[in-house]
Parts: sequence; structure tokens; C-alpha cells
Amino acid sequence: MGKRYHLTTFGCQMNEHDSERMKGMLESLGYSEAADRGDADLILFNTCSIREKADDRFIAHLREANALKRRAPNTVIGVGGCWAQSVKDEVFQRFPFVDVAFGPGQVHRLAEFLTSDSLTAQGYFEFEGFTGDLPAKRAREFQGWLQISVGCNCVCSYCIVPSTRGREVSRDPETLVAEVRRLAADGVSEVTLLGQNVNSYGRDLPGERRLSFSDLLRRVDAVPGIRRIRYTSPHPKDMREDVILAHAELGALCEHIHLPLQSGSSPVLKRMRRTYTRERYLDRVALIREHLPDCALTTDIIVGFPGETEEDFRRTLEVAEEVGYDGAFTFLYSPRRGTEAAELDGQVPHELKVERLEQLVEVIQRRAAERAQRFVGRTLEVLVEGPSRTDPTRLRGRTRHNKVVNFDGLGTPGEYVPVTITGATSQTLTGEMSLLARAAG
Ligand code: 5AD
Ligand code: SF4
Repeated sequence: MGKRYHLTTFGCQMNEHDSERMKGMLESLGYSEAADRGDADLILFNTCSIREKADDRFIAHLREANALKRRAPNTVIGVGGCWAQSVKDEVFQRFPFVDVAFGPGQVHRLAEFLTSDSLTAQGYFEFEGFTGDLPAKRAREFQGWLQISVGCNCVCSYCIVPSTRGREVSRDPETLVAEVRRLAADGVSEVTLLGQNVNSYGRDLPGERRLSFSDLLRRVDAVPGIRRIRYTSPHPKDMREDVILAHAELGALCEHIHLPLQSGSSPVLKRMRRTYTRERYLDRVALIREHLPDCALTTDIIVGFPGETEEDFRRTLEVAEEVGYDGAFTFLYSPRRGTEAAELDGQVPHELKVERLEQLVEVIQRRAAERAQRFVGRTLEVLVEGPSRTDPTRLRGRTRHNKVVNFDGLGTPGEYVPVTITGATSQTLTGEMSLLARAAG
């Protein structure tokens, strides 16, 4: 029997995409996927280091892998991704049972390791830009990722990413468009453009090949077969009118913008080195609302950044109240090794962070539930993803606004169906498939 691998992914969509590429690469080497870690010859982890909790969770899994290896000593253990990059060779001292470790820029080196005869532990941590065209094994055949850049030139003082993914490098536009055509030919109708800061795309490209992010969106929109385009994440400092107008103009570009706020207090934003103020952020939101009144807006917010006062936190609550997000990811600030903010005075006690998070979540959820009422009674185009998680007799899908809908009806994954919305909470919509009405978007 051929060799089998088991891969566990932590973290963001960038990691999910890298994992799909690892899987594609492993299958081209003749490996097949094992359902259980215990049945695998190769146990792999694609790690995240964005917050301390992510580290802790992963280390528990790694210890379990070690226990399996003690029973089957030929098992190979590999650790990729941001955590591996942030500790580098230290991984072999702390966890001597690890055979291979590699950073996010080194996915392709895993193949090199597996096909070499070397038995010694190896680490690969250079930054080389994009790691080549690896065949991806997509989790859903109708949804594809397009990584438009690697790395990040921002210096957000809380964030470990710039040190784990290197400087920003944009991929060549022609290569990207060709990749979208290939995805479309392969049955993908929804594509998500990925980058740490997607809307600074292209600024590092040489003159004759330079393309702005909005023009890249235009090129992707023109590819036949692509019905939905999403992207994540933009940085508010680089969110210009051309991108907002592209949402109004391009048929495939979805009515959803994720615009990370992080804090509603300008002094905190300054210490975070976000390079925008509360007012500039709210101006961006006003511009979005002016051109795209129905567009869904979501965000990321950190509470308990060093030195955050009651007044600072109140300013964040105000922005959450005023904007009325359709959804938000909220985080307790977590000091990360090697970042500027970890060294700042005024670290906020854990209990206070938790208390603030609860208050914030209350505002976010209340406003999201209110915003969601605008969908009730409308018939929306829903992309079917599979059975509902709570009731398998119903279906689950997503609207262009990125809202999850649980509904009664018939449809197979990958189909676009019209659903009339009958109810809405802060997180999900419910509805019935409409046999007569046409989806109005
Ligand atoms: N602590 C808490 N949250 C963080 N994020 C990034 N770094 C940290 C940190 N050190 C959050 C930001 C970012 C999201 C992906 O994770 O809100 O937008
Ligand atoms: Fe971190 Fe800022 Fe880069 Fe996002 S844009 S990954 S928050 S440094």
C-alpha cells in the first residue's frame, strides 16, 4: 500500500490555501490522505502564530503526534507555517521528534525532504517569494483561492506576520489571470484573492507589468465562468475609491468588504502603527456606504492593547455602534514574541480584557442582528455548500454578502439557487428555496 499523510491546518485562509497546495503536492508524490492521524506515515501540521492560544492548541496536537511516533517509529513528523517560522531551528531542540520544519515560503521544500535519503532533521526558513505553481487539492471543487501576493510591508506593532511571511511581493498579473482561467476551466465559479494586504497589490511590480488591485479585479471579473469574486484582507490605509467603485461596476465582485478596524481610538491606532486615524477609517466607511449602501461590512477588532484606557475602549464601542458591522472577529490582545507591542508598558490585565471583549461582542451582535433584518423578505442568490450543520435535512449555502443561509430546498454543492429569506440572526439567515422567483442578488 502507498504511503499516507495526515495534515492538520491552523489559522487563516492563507494557511488553508497552503495546505491545499501541500495536499496536491503530496498526492503527486503518490501519497494518499489518511482519515486518522494514527494511520498516517507522515503527520503534518500547518501552523499559525497570530495569538498565544494558537500556539498552545497546536503544541497539544504535536505531543499527540509524538506519542503515535513512539508506537510507530518510522512515522515522519513535519511542521510548516508561521509558528515554525517564528521559532525556526529551535523547533528541533524543543521537539526533537520533529523531522522536518519549514516556513510559509517553503512549502515546496517538503517534497525535496520527502524524496531525499537524508534521515537527519531539516529546517527550511528562507523567504523566496511565491513558492511556485503547486497543484492544489481543493476542499470544494467550485471554490478556489488565488494568492496574489506574499508577505507584508506593514509594521503593525502587535502582529507577528511581517516576521513570519517576509516582505511583500506581488505575483505577476498575467500568471494570476492564467491561473484564474485554469481554475474556471476546472469548475471553480467562486474565487477568493488572498494577500496580507491585498489592496497594496502591484505597487512593487516593474512599470510595464504594474497593475492596480482594482484593475486586477477587473481582469478576474472578465474571466468566463467566474461568478463570484472575494478578497481578504484589505488595509484601510490603502482602501481607495477605485476599489469601492469596482464593487458597483463588476458583476462578479461580491457585496462584502472586510475592513479591519483593530481599534476605534486614534491614540491606540497610532501605537498599533496602523497609519490611519478613527476619522480616516470612518471616512472610508462613509465612502463605502455612499456608493454601496447594501454592501456587507465586517471587521477585526483587538481589545486590551497595551495602554488601552476605558476612554480608548469606549471609542471602539462607539465605532462598532456607529458603523453597524454585519459581523466581526474580536480578539483579546496577545503579546507575540519579537513584536514591538509586547515590550510596551501598560499591559492590560486578562480579566479586564475579557470584560471588554464581552461588552464589545454584545454591541457587535446586536448591530449585526439589526443589519441582517434588511435581508428578510428578499430573494437572494445562494451558492449551495452542502447540508446544514444543525439539521441535515436542510441545505447550507452562502449569499454574495457572505451570510450563511440554512434553507429548505433541493440543490447540489456548487449550484446557485434563489432563496427567499424568512428569518435573520446576527450570525445566520434562514430561508426557503424559491421555485418561482429569480435570485435578485
Ligand atoms: N493579538 C490579538 N489579535 C491579533 N491579531 C493580529 N495579531 C494579534 C495579536 N497579537 C488579529 C488582528 C488581525 C487578525 C487576523 O488577528 O485583528 O486583523
Ligand atoms: Fe499584520 Fe498589519 Fe500585515 Fe495585517 S496588515 S498582517 S495586521 S502587519
